[in-house]
Amino acid sequence: MKKIIIANWKMNPRTASEVKMLARAVTEGVKKIKNMEITLCPPFLFVSAVKKIIANKKNIKLGAQNVFSEKAGAFTGEISATQLKSIGVGLVIVGHSERRALGESKEIINKKLRCALEGGLNAVLCIGEKEKSKEGLSGIIREELYSAIKGIKKSLLLNKLIIVYEPIWAISTNPGSEPDDPQNVYETTILLKRDLLKILGRRAASQIPILYGGSVNEKNVVGFKKSGIDGFLVGSASLNAGKFIKIVKFAAL
Ligand code: PGA
Repeated sequence: MKKIIIANWKMNPRTASEVKMLARAVTEGVKKIKNMEITLCPPFLFVSAVKKIIANKKNIKLGAQNVFSEKAGAFTGEISATQLKSIGVGLVIVGHSERRALGESKEIINKKLRCALEGGLNAVLCIGEKEKSKEGLSGIIREELYSAIKGIKKSLLLNKLIIVYEPIWAISTNPGSEPDDPQNVYETTILLKRDLLKILGRRAASQIPILYGGSVNEKNVVGFKKSGIDGFLVGSASLNAGKFIKIVKFAAL
């Protein structure tokens, strides 16, 4: 399986010209790297600009950071999975802790995941605990996974779901954050695989990619790779082309 790297640019960069500069530098820097599937997730507004820059590049794809929880209709300011798909977006992030903090409930996340998958997108489901404590971790992980995938067709989950284990305390922009350690990431991956096996069966446990996110940088990526992870969701470090290119290179080794 190719390793997956997703760049979550969040509400960055500040301007269209900075977006183009970043996208060009990344595209150029990773062009010779094989066996990696890179997806850039710019703010909605800049998706088309990034699409032009990455056009015809086999190893870089286009993603989005959000999708609405209904398929179509009168929802001012929202964007549907079908609309995203129609302009070439292939993947969307769902259940990110920053969106949960803005009020997205488990029910909404379930609806968004369903809309994304039924709309033909791959969906990256973020799961992770708030506090750095192993106590209750397996319960939190299981509850977030179960509630998000509830009622969604197994075949869609098998083919289009990507899970990111992203402990909230490890996200670089959260106060006092620090990266998780590879051993804990390994153990949590096992918990997730066990749950996938229970709910969706053996194929799901081996086939659904599990990534890690939370303060991933060019220095710690190799260590995390050893935890048997299928790839990474990168926030802050993806805004620096040099650092991001190194992350991709080291992950590809
Ligand atoms: P970070 O962000 O890499 O800056 O910790 C990751 C994320 O929030 O997706």
